[in-house]
Amino acid sequence: MASVVSAPRDALNVAAIRQDFPILRQRVHGKPLVYLDNAATTQKPQAVIDALQRYYSEENANVHRGVHSLSGRATDAYDAAREDVRRFINAADAREIVFVRGTTEGINLVAQTWGRARVGAGDEIVLTEMEHHSNIVPWQILCEEKGARLRVAPITDAGELRLDELERLLNARTRLVAVAHVSNVLGTVNPVAEIVRLARARGIPVLVDGAQAVAHMPVDVQALGCDFYAFSGHKVLGPTGIGVLYGRRELLEAMPVYQGGGGQIGSVTFDRTTYAPLPYKYEAGTPNIAGVIGLAAAIDYVTGVGLDRIAAYERDLCAYATSALADVPGLRLTGTARDRASVLSFVLGDVHPHDIGTILDREGVAIRAGHHCCQPLMRRLGVPATARASLALYNTRQEIDTLVAALQRVGEVFE
Ligand code: ALA
Repeated sequence: MASVVSAPRDALNVAAIRQDFPILRQRVHGKPLVYLDNAATTQKPQAVIDALQRYYSEENANVHRGVHSLSGRATDAYDAAREDVRRFINAADAREIVFVRGTTEGINLVAQTWGRARVGAGDEIVLTEMEHHSNIVPWQILCEEKGARLRVAPITDAGELRLDELERLLNARTRLVAVAHVSNVLGTVNPVAEIVRLARARGIPVLVDGAQAVAHMPVDVQALGCDFYAFSGHKVLGPTGIGVLYGRRELLEAMPVYQGGGGQIGSVTFDRTTYAPLPYKYEAGTPNIAGVIGLAAAIDYVTGVGLDRIAAYERDLCAYATSALADVPGLRLTGTARDRASVLSFVLGDVHPHDIGTILDREGVAIRAGHHCCQPLMRRLGVPATARASLALYNTRQEIDTLVAALQRVGEVFE
């Protein structure tokens, strides 16, 4: 397929990378799997699968509890992983890294602890029109409990945040700005550092939903200046059920605990409990040790490849896909922001996105169809659903060509 997009100079060795992902070798309905649902979850390299297997076959024990050797080894691996995560997002201190189940739990933790302590009647929380339900519903629950309200910054038709409108919403009642780093529908990369600058100037903290960012670009929480940053392991080649909440130390120190239980305490009597220092005060119960070890292996893998190189490669692939999809009659991209990462949502004439997804599946092509947990954004876009192809470092131009050819056939079937 002809393309106006030139090949990147420092291209990844994608053929070698693909060898690291056993799942990509399979066929679906007799066709080679073309996995383009990476915004939903990413595939796992052998290094992550091996780390999980090694942990369960050689190191399995509870952390921070036993005096025996196995427990010591599990604890060392668990603690080392926290330092890996710190380095990965350039947090100032490993105590600012809290392990949670995923982005959703990270955001709920902030809403239920910081939010319950700091948000009162008449206060406001500022979101954007492109937020995932996981960055809407926890705030809505808090607002209902406290008599506070959500204010929503609009987007342009291209899917870019109206920064001027967001700034207009900031006032003395604003307690928090909560914003996606990258939209899971539009692919828009939001200007987080600029949003933080506007909020900080007014003393307002900023929480960033980084679920769709961390696998696709280098993330530096100190450079962004945000107060909280949440992401999920499974979207960055790691296991499901593990995620990270980064919080600035002063905020985490001051916040009340989230859940109560073992592992998080200083001392307990029937009259009173004192809590362990950061980050353990937020990690009640036996943590997802295997998940943490798998996440560390995933972080090792992506940093070994290089986030800068991944970002450059995926941007080129995204530009190639954007131009190739333009060749499909009747296809309209929903989301054409100037700064866009790895997500291509579209509608195709009157064909229902679920039909597109089902027909593509017969060709071995996996995409997502639906509202993508973004019903308010769908309303803004004026569609009930979209089809969405989302990229990762192991995808190729050839796979985009397969997608485009399959979409052309969908168009013909429904003509
Ligand atoms: N948030 C994930 C997605 O966008 C599940 O598909």
